[in-house]
Amino acid sequence: MAKPTKNEITSNLLAWYDAFGRDLPWRDTTDAYKILVSEIMLQQTQVPRVLLSYHRWLAQFPDWHILAEADTAAVIHAWAGLGYNRRALALRDIARQIVETGLPGSEEAWLKLKGVGPYTAAAMTVFSLGKHAVPIDTNIRRAGARLLLAVPYPEPRADERLKPALAAVLGRTRRFADIVQALFDLASLICLKKPLCKPCPLIRECRVSGGFLAGAYPMPVRPSPASRERRHRDKLYPDRIFRGRILRLVREAPDGCAVAGLGPSIDPTFDPVHDRSWLEAMIGRMIADGLIVRSGKRLKLPR
Ligand code: ADE
Repeated sequence: MAKPTKNEITSNLLAWYDAFGRDLPWRDTTDAYKILVSEIMLQQTQVPRVLLSYHRWLAQFPDWHILAEADTAAVIHAWAGLGYNRRALALRDIARQIVETGLPGSEEAWLKLKGVGPYTAAAMTVFSLGKHAVPIDTNIRRAGARLLLAVPYPEPRADERLKPALAAVLGRTRRFADIVQALFDLASLICLKKPLCKPCPLIRECRVSGGFLAGAYPMPVRPSPASRERRHRDKLYPDRIFRGRILRLVREAPDGCAVAGLGPSIDPTFDPVHDRSWLEAMIGRMIADGLIVRSGKRLKLPR
Protein backbone atom coordinates (compact mmCIF):
# COMPACT_ATOMS: atom_id res chain seq x y z
CA MET A 1 0.00 0.00 0.00
CA ALA A 2 1.27 3.48 -0.82
CA LYS A 3 2.43 5.58 2.12
CA PRO A 4 -0.44 7.93 3.11
CA THR A 5 0.08 11.59 2.36
CA LYS A 6 -0.29 14.27 5.01
CA ASN A 7 -3.21 15.57 2.94
CA GLU A 8 -5.07 12.27 3.31
CA ILE A 9 -4.59 12.40 7.05
CA THR A 10 -5.95 15.94 7.36
CA SER A 11 -8.81 15.51 4.92
CA ASN A 12 -10.02 12.23 6.44
CA LEU A 13 -9.68 13.54 9.98
CA LEU A 14 -11.51 16.79 9.18
CA ALA A 15 -14.33 14.99 7.36
CA TRP A 16 -14.78 12.75 10.43
CA TYR A 17 -14.62 15.76 12.77
CA ASP A 18 -17.25 17.63 10.75
CA ALA A 19 -19.57 14.63 11.03
CA PHE A 20 -18.84 13.35 14.54
CA GLY A 21 -16.85 15.99 16.45
CA ARG A 22 -18.23 17.07 19.82
CA ASP A 23 -20.05 20.38 19.96
CA LEU A 24 -18.25 21.94 22.93
CA PRO A 25 -18.89 25.54 24.02
CA TRP A 26 -15.22 26.62 24.07
CA ARG A 27 -14.92 25.68 20.41
CA ASP A 28 -17.22 28.51 19.29
CA THR A 29 -14.96 31.28 20.49
CA THR A 30 -11.48 32.73 20.20
CA ASP A 31 -11.95 34.69 23.45
CA ALA A 32 -8.73 34.07 25.37
CA TYR A 33 -10.45 34.20 28.76
CA LYS A 34 -13.06 31.55 27.91
CA ILE A 35 -10.45 29.34 26.27
CA LEU A 36 -8.07 29.56 29.21
CA VAL A 37 -10.89 28.69 31.64
CA SER A 38 -11.75 25.62 29.55
CA GLU A 39 -8.15 24.50 29.10
CA ILE A 40 -7.32 24.74 32.81
CA MET A 41 -10.55 22.93 33.73
CA LEU A 42 -9.83 20.22 31.14
CA GLN A 43 -6.31 19.57 32.37
CA GLN A 44 -7.24 16.89 34.86
CA THR A 45 -11.00 16.66 34.51
CA GLN A 46 -13.10 14.90 31.87
CA VAL A 47 -15.25 16.88 29.43
CA PRO A 48 -18.69 15.91 30.90
CA ARG A 49 -17.67 17.11 34.36
CA VAL A 50 -16.17 20.33 32.98
CA LEU A 51 -19.43 21.03 31.16
CA LEU A 52 -21.23 21.04 34.52
CA SER A 53 -19.02 23.87 35.85
CA TYR A 54 -17.90 25.87 32.82
CA HIS A 55 -20.98 28.07 32.26
CA ARG A 56 -21.50 28.61 35.98
CA TRP A 57 -17.89 29.81 36.29
CA LEU A 58 -18.27 32.20 33.35
CA ALA A 59 -21.52 33.57 34.81
CA GLN A 60 -19.82 34.28 38.13
CA PHE A 61 -16.45 35.43 36.71
CA PRO A 62 -17.18 36.71 33.19
CA ASP A 63 -13.81 38.31 32.49
CA TRP A 64 -10.19 38.70 33.56
CA HIS A 65 -10.92 41.72 35.75
CA ILE A 66 -13.71 40.17 37.79
CA LEU A 67 -11.71 36.96 38.29
CA ALA A 68 -8.59 38.92 39.24
CA GLU A 69 -10.53 40.59 42.03
CA ALA A 70 -12.07 37.38 43.37
CA ASP A 71 -10.94 36.15 46.77
CA THR A 72 -9.73 32.62 47.37
CA ALA A 73 -12.93 31.51 49.10
CA ALA A 74 -15.02 32.57 46.09
CA VAL A 75 -12.90 30.71 43.53
CA ILE A 76 -12.72 27.57 45.69
CA HIS A 77 -16.52 27.57 46.00
CA ALA A 78 -16.94 28.02 42.25
CA TRP A 79 -14.43 25.22 41.51
CA ALA A 80 -16.49 22.67 43.50
CA GLY A 81 -16.84 19.39 41.61
CA LEU A 82 -13.72 19.81 39.48
CA GLY A 83 -11.02 18.56 41.90
CA TYR A 84 -7.33 19.51 41.92
CA ASN A 85 -8.31 22.82 43.54
CA ARG A 86 -4.92 24.47 43.13
CA ARG A 87 -5.92 25.02 39.50
CA ALA A 88 -8.61 27.48 40.65
CA LEU A 89 -6.01 29.62 42.41
CA ALA A 90 -3.61 29.29 39.46
CA LEU A 91 -6.32 30.51 37.07
CA ARG A 92 -7.16 33.49 39.29
CA ASP A 93 -3.44 34.30 39.60
CA ILE A 94 -2.99 34.18 35.81
CA ALA A 95 -5.92 36.61 35.52
CA ARG A 96 -4.14 38.95 37.97
CA GLN A 97 -0.97 38.86 35.84
CA ILE A 98 -2.95 39.56 32.66
CA VAL A 99 -4.77 42.51 34.23
CA GLU A 100 -1.38 43.84 35.26
CA THR A 101 0.64 43.25 32.07
CA GLY A 102 -1.88 42.76 29.24
CA LEU A 103 -2.90 39.80 27.13
CA PRO A 104 0.00 37.77 25.68
CA GLY A 105 0.33 37.97 21.90
CA SER A 106 2.54 34.96 21.27
CA GLU A 107 3.31 31.47 22.55
CA GLU A 108 6.52 32.77 24.18
CA ALA A 109 4.60 35.51 25.95
CA TRP A 110 2.01 33.03 27.27
CA LEU A 111 4.85 30.85 28.54
CA LYS A 112 6.27 33.72 30.56
CA LEU A 113 3.21 33.80 32.82
CA LYS A 114 3.56 31.99 36.12
CA GLY A 115 1.26 28.96 36.11
CA VAL A 116 1.23 28.55 32.31
CA GLY A 117 3.12 25.50 31.02
CA PRO A 118 4.07 24.47 27.47
CA TYR A 119 0.76 22.69 26.79
CA THR A 120 -1.40 25.63 27.86
CA ALA A 121 0.78 28.20 26.04
CA ALA A 122 0.51 26.20 22.82
CA ALA A 123 -3.25 25.67 23.23
CA MET A 124 -3.81 29.42 23.76
CA THR A 125 -1.71 30.17 20.68
CA VAL A 126 -3.70 27.84 18.45
CA PHE A 127 -7.25 28.39 19.77
CA SER A 128 -7.15 32.06 20.71
CA LEU A 129 -4.38 33.68 18.66
CA GLY A 130 -5.06 31.51 15.59
CA LYS A 131 -1.34 30.91 15.15
CA HIS A 132 0.56 27.69 14.67
CA ALA A 133 1.75 25.80 17.75
CA VAL A 134 1.68 22.16 18.81
CA PRO A 135 -0.19 21.51 22.07
CA ILE A 136 0.59 18.00 23.31
CA ASP A 137 -1.41 16.58 26.20
CA THR A 138 -1.95 12.87 26.95
CA ASN A 139 -4.75 12.63 24.37
CA ILE A 140 -2.90 14.28 21.52
CA ARG A 141 0.22 12.29 22.44
CA ARG A 142 -1.62 8.96 22.29
CA ALA A 143 -3.43 9.56 18.99
CA GLY A 144 -0.55 11.48 17.36
CA ALA A 145 2.24 9.10 18.29
CA ARG A 146 0.26 6.08 17.12
CA LEU A 147 -0.67 7.72 13.85
CA LEU A 148 2.64 9.38 13.00
CA LEU A 149 5.37 7.61 14.98
CA ALA A 150 4.09 4.01 15.17
CA VAL A 151 4.35 4.06 18.98
CA PRO A 152 1.36 2.11 20.42
CA TYR A 153 1.62 3.37 24.04
CA PRO A 154 3.63 6.61 23.97
CA GLU A 155 5.31 8.13 27.02
CA PRO A 156 6.04 11.88 27.35
CA ARG A 157 9.55 11.34 26.01
CA ALA A 158 7.93 10.76 22.57
CA ASP A 159 6.99 14.47 22.50
CA GLU A 160 10.26 15.69 21.03
CA ARG A 161 9.75 13.51 17.94
CA LEU A 162 6.00 14.07 17.87
CA LYS A 163 6.24 17.88 17.79
CA PRO A 164 7.81 18.21 14.31
CA ALA A 165 5.71 15.35 12.93
CA LEU A 166 2.48 17.01 14.11
CA ALA A 167 3.67 20.46 13.03
CA ALA A 168 4.12 19.08 9.50
CA VAL A 169 0.53 17.78 9.48
CA LEU A 170 -0.89 21.02 10.93
CA GLY A 171 1.09 23.07 8.44
CA ARG A 172 -0.78 21.53 5.55
CA THR A 173 -4.20 22.87 6.44
CA ARG A 174 -5.77 26.23 7.08
CA ARG A 175 -7.96 24.45 9.64
CA PHE A 176 -5.10 23.61 11.98
CA ALA A 177 -7.07 24.47 15.14
CA ASP A 178 -9.77 22.02 14.00
CA ILE A 179 -7.15 19.31 13.48
CA VAL A 180 -6.07 19.69 17.11
CA GLN A 181 -9.70 19.61 18.29
CA ALA A 182 -10.32 16.57 16.05
CA LEU A 183 -7.38 14.78 17.66
CA PHE A 184 -8.88 15.42 21.13
CA ASP A 185 -12.10 13.83 19.94
CA LEU A 186 -10.41 10.96 18.16
CA ALA A 187 -8.44 10.18 21.33
CA SER A 188 -11.56 10.39 23.54
CA LEU A 189 -13.95 8.47 21.31
CA ILE A 190 -11.85 6.05 19.20
CA CYS A 191 -8.14 6.10 19.91
CA LEU A 192 -8.65 5.07 23.53
CA LYS A 193 -5.93 3.39 25.57
CA LYS A 194 -7.38 0.20 24.10
CA PRO A 195 -8.31 1.64 20.71
CA LEU A 196 -11.40 0.90 18.63
CA CYS A 197 -9.62 0.80 15.29
CA LYS A 198 -12.45 -0.49 13.09
CA PRO A 199 -14.49 2.76 13.01
CA CYS A 200 -11.39 4.97 12.97
CA PRO A 201 -11.30 7.46 10.08
CA LEU A 202 -7.52 7.01 9.93
CA ILE A 203 -7.40 3.23 9.96
CA ARG A 204 -5.57 3.22 6.63
CA GLU A 205 -3.16 5.98 7.48
CA CYS A 206 -2.35 4.87 11.03
CA ARG A 207 0.97 3.13 11.53
CA VAL A 208 -0.27 0.81 14.29
CA SER A 209 -3.93 0.05 13.45
CA GLY A 210 -2.97 -3.25 11.78
CA GLY A 211 -0.99 -4.33 14.84
CA PHE A 212 -3.80 -3.36 17.22
CA LEU A 213 -6.38 -5.23 15.13
CA ALA A 214 -4.10 -8.29 15.12
CA GLY A 215 -3.75 -8.10 18.93
CA ALA A 216 -0.02 -7.49 18.62
CA TYR A 217 0.22 -4.75 21.27
CA PRO A 218 -0.86 -6.01 24.69
CA MET A 219 -1.42 -3.18 27.11
CA PRO A 220 1.86 -2.59 28.99
CA VAL A 221 1.80 -3.40 32.68
CA ARG A 222 2.99 -0.26 34.37
CA PRO A 223 2.00 1.49 37.55
CA SER A 224 -1.22 3.39 36.96
CA PRO A 225 -1.01 7.18 37.44
CA ALA A 226 -3.11 6.77 40.62
CA SER A 227 -0.62 4.38 42.18
CA ARG A 228 2.21 6.85 41.61
CA GLU A 229 0.43 9.47 43.72
CA ARG A 230 1.36 10.21 47.33
CA ARG A 231 -0.36 7.69 49.60
CA HIS A 232 -0.19 7.01 53.36
CA ARG A 233 0.35 3.49 54.74
CA ASP A 234 -2.26 1.13 53.34
CA LYS A 235 -4.93 3.80 52.73
CA LEU A 236 -7.43 2.89 50.06
CA TYR A 237 -6.98 6.21 48.22
CA PRO A 238 -4.14 8.62 47.45
CA ASP A 239 -3.82 11.77 49.60
CA ARG A 240 -5.49 13.79 46.82
CA ILE A 241 -8.85 12.20 47.70
CA PHE A 242 -8.52 12.95 51.42
CA ARG A 243 -7.40 16.51 50.69
CA GLY A 244 -10.53 16.89 48.55
CA ARG A 245 -12.63 15.69 51.49
CA ILE A 246 -10.95 18.13 53.88
CA LEU A 247 -11.56 20.99 51.47
CA ARG A 248 -15.21 20.02 51.03
CA LEU A 249 -15.76 20.06 54.81
CA VAL A 250 -14.02 23.43 55.16
CA ARG A 251 -15.87 24.87 52.16
CA GLU A 252 -19.28 23.75 53.32
CA ALA A 253 -19.08 24.79 56.97
CA PRO A 254 -20.02 28.49 57.20
CA ASP A 255 -17.69 28.94 60.16
CA GLY A 256 -14.89 26.69 59.00
CA CYS A 257 -14.26 23.26 60.38
CA ALA A 258 -12.69 22.07 63.66
CA VAL A 259 -9.40 20.18 63.34
CA ALA A 260 -10.50 17.94 66.22
CA GLY A 261 -12.70 15.21 64.78
CA LEU A 262 -11.55 15.88 61.23
CA GLY A 263 -9.68 12.56 60.91
CA PRO A 264 -12.68 10.23 61.24
CA SER A 265 -14.78 12.60 59.08
CA ILE A 266 -12.49 12.11 56.11
CA ASP A 267 -11.52 8.50 56.73
CA PRO A 268 -13.61 5.87 58.57
CA THR A 269 -10.43 3.88 59.28
CA PHE A 270 -8.64 6.89 60.80
CA ASP A 271 -6.25 5.76 63.55
CA PRO A 272 -5.32 8.52 66.02
CA VAL A 273 -1.93 6.92 66.72
CA HIS A 274 -0.74 6.16 63.21
CA ASP A 275 -2.62 8.76 61.19
CA ARG A 276 -2.43 11.99 63.21
CA SER A 277 0.87 13.21 61.72
CA TRP A 278 -0.30 12.28 58.20
CA LEU A 279 -3.43 14.41 58.67
CA GLU A 280 -1.37 17.31 60.06
CA ALA A 281 1.04 17.06 57.10
CA MET A 282 -1.85 17.17 54.59
CA ILE A 283 -3.30 20.22 56.38
CA GLY A 284 0.15 21.83 56.33
CA ARG A 285 0.49 21.31 52.58
CA MET A 286 -3.00 22.69 51.94
CA ILE A 287 -2.13 25.80 53.96
CA ALA A 288 1.15 26.15 52.03
CA ASP A 289 -0.79 25.86 48.76
CA GLY A 290 -3.03 28.74 49.85
CA LEU A 291 -6.19 26.59 49.84
CA ILE A 292 -7.03 26.93 53.56
CA VAL A 293 -5.92 28.85 56.64
CA ARG A 294 -5.78 27.83 60.26
CA SER A 295 -7.57 30.07 62.70
CA GLY A 296 -7.11 28.78 66.27
CA LYS A 297 -8.44 25.25 66.27
CA ARG A 298 -10.41 25.68 63.07
CA LEU A 299 -9.68 25.53 59.36
CA LYS A 300 -11.23 28.12 57.04
CA LEU A 301 -11.08 29.28 53.45
CA PRO A 302 -8.77 32.28 52.99
CA ARG A 303 -10.42 35.62 52.32
N1 ADE B 1 -8.78 18.70 26.36
C1 ADE B 1 -7.99 19.78 26.36
N2 ADE B 1 -8.45 20.72 25.53
C2 ADE B 1 -9.58 20.21 24.97
C3 ADE B 1 -10.52 20.71 24.06
N3 ADE B 1 -10.39 21.93 23.54
N4 ADE B 1 -11.54 19.90 23.73
C4 ADE B 1 -11.66 18.69 24.28
N5 ADE B 1 -10.82 18.17 25.16
C5 ADE B 1 -9.77 18.93 25.51
